[in-house]
Amino acid sequence: MASIRDYDRAASDQRRPGKEGAGDALDMTELVRLATLAASSHNTQPWKFRIGERCVTVLPDFARRCPVVDPDDSHLFKSLGCAAENLVHAAAAQGHAAEICFDATEETVVARFERSGAARASDLFRAIPRRQCTRTAYDGSSLASDHLKLLERVGQGNGVRTILLTSRPQLDCVVEYVTRGNEIQLTDPLFRKELVSWIRFNPGEALLTGDGISGRTGGQPSLPRWLGKAIIDLVLTPKAQADADARNLRSSAAVAVFVAARGDKPAWVEVGRAYERFSLQAAALDIRSAFVNQPIEVRALRPQFESSLDLDGERALLIVRIGRAPLAPFSLRRRLEDVMST
Ligand SMILES: Cc1cc2nc3c(=O)[nH]c(=O)nc-3n(C[C@H](O)[C@H](O)[C@H](O)COP(=O)(O)O)c2cc1C
Repeated sequence: MASIRDYDRAASDQRRPGKEGAGDALDMTELVRLATLAASSHNTQPWKFRIGERCVTVLPDFARRCPVVDPDDSHLFKSLGCAAENLVHAAAAQGHAAEICFDATEETVVARFERSGAARASDLFRAIPRRQCTRTAYDGSSLASDHLKLLERVGQGNGVRTILLTSRPQLDCVVEYVTRGNEIQLTDPLFRKELVSWIRFNPGEALLTGDGISGRTGGQPSLPRWLGKAIIDLVLTPKAQADADARNLRSSAAVAVFVAARGDKPAWVEVGRAYERFSLQAAALDIRSAFVNQPIEVRALRPQFESSLDLDGERALLIVRIGRAPLAPFSLRRRLEDVMST
């Protein structure tokens, strides 16, 4: 039976430092390995990678969609954007500039690489193996204004910007929407069923699938699946989740809302890229981040939440809290051969 030590060893091997140094040929397999370390909704890793001549195509894997929480596949395409952003930094570390395009016919994200004297390993690149969603409470301290400004800047993209909410009333407003979102989501049997199907209750399950939300990342004890499911039925109530989210939000220094001028697939990819860049920059500054997306996932809440922000006709597409905390155990990834497209 797999142990916690086996789990941690696999996570740390998957997150070994990325390859640096310019050679003539790009190490494409290494680029894909680093792309797979990106965030994805429920850790579904809804992607396949096709390696071509100086390009990598990131394809959606619709077999891994989450129709309840993500009926329009917007989280799925944001996840592809996250992976594409890692490709940019991984290629730069190997001396290549990358251009990212959305192919509307194939619905894929294409990264094309070109040798560049200016491209080199950056802090964001070195943060790829250390980036994680840290779902614990943070230490309540505020962040330096130059760090906040830097995060706001890297969170900008083509038609995308990041709004930072730092005041107590602003955080209280997010708490209120997250609480209402939990009430709606966690009383929906279909939402609960889908969520539980992606939870990995012990190291054996997590290592077998290499995906999903592992109990290990949230500090939960290792349980057989039948027992984990029975316990979650009892403890995952709207009130318990709302209390935990309120505590976690109030322990955070700020909330970042990623907004975009459009709400189509290219915009979702851009938002995913902006989030990944933001979270890499945060990791490079030893700042933690975690999602609190309930106000945008629950369609009935989204317009009200958006009108609570000072938006310029934009849509809110991701919500993330940030602050200081120790690193938590890392999530796992699938084997590279399982994400390669032929
Ligand atoms: C588009 C998108 C939406 C996400 N939504 C949530 C969310 O609502 N709540 C949450 O706790 N994590 C959310 N996540 C984080 C994933 O669960 C996380 O990236 C995944 O479990 C892998 O873990 P890691 O990011 O620590 O490597 C989201 C990630 C993405 C890319």
